[in-house]
Amino acid sequence: MENNSRRGFMGKAFGAVAAVGAIGSLFAMKKSWDPLPSVRSAGFTTLDLSVYKENELITEKWRGKPIFVLKKTADMVASQTESQKARDIEVNGSHYMIAIGLCTHLGCIPAYNASNKGFLCACHGGQFDFAGDVTKVPPPRGFDIPPFKIEGNTLVLGEAGPEYTKMKESGVTL
Ligand code: FES
Repeated sequence: MENNSRRGFMGKAFGAVAAVGAIGSLFAMKKSWDPLPSVRSAGFTTLDLSVYKENELITEKWRGKPIFVLKKTADMVASQTESQKARDIEVNGSHYMIAIGLCTHLGCIPAYNASNKGFLCACHGGQFDFAGDVTKVPPPRGFDIPPFKIEGNTLVLGEAGPEYTKMKESGVTL
């Protein structure tokens, strides 16, 4: 009698463990069928440009690459040359330098100096101005600009809007 009830109890306990295991397996299977969050948003990064501070370089990420975002001060905007203006991205009256943060020589990540408003690449001494234009070789050109689309106060990286298309067609970026 005691043996029977113990067997009954053990049977129920094993049954419960098996059921929990089966539910766990179903969850694991469902998870593997669902697309990963990173795949769902693959290729696009949205930046809210209202949060950046003037003359403070912020490095974002897009498709595994560093993206430099530099909001320009009024002085920077007023002093821009024609070639700097051609690289300028204006959103809601504010001006930005947005570029892939890799030196166009051999791909090092240059550092920004806020006091002289320029970039120095420590690898071979290449320099860039606050607009991302090259000012000292060996880099062969300014920073490349990623495809972007302006949507209100946000910038969608990975989508080519009219402003980016114009830059590409005029040879401002590759
Ligand atoms: S990698 Fe930047 S100067 Fe060579």
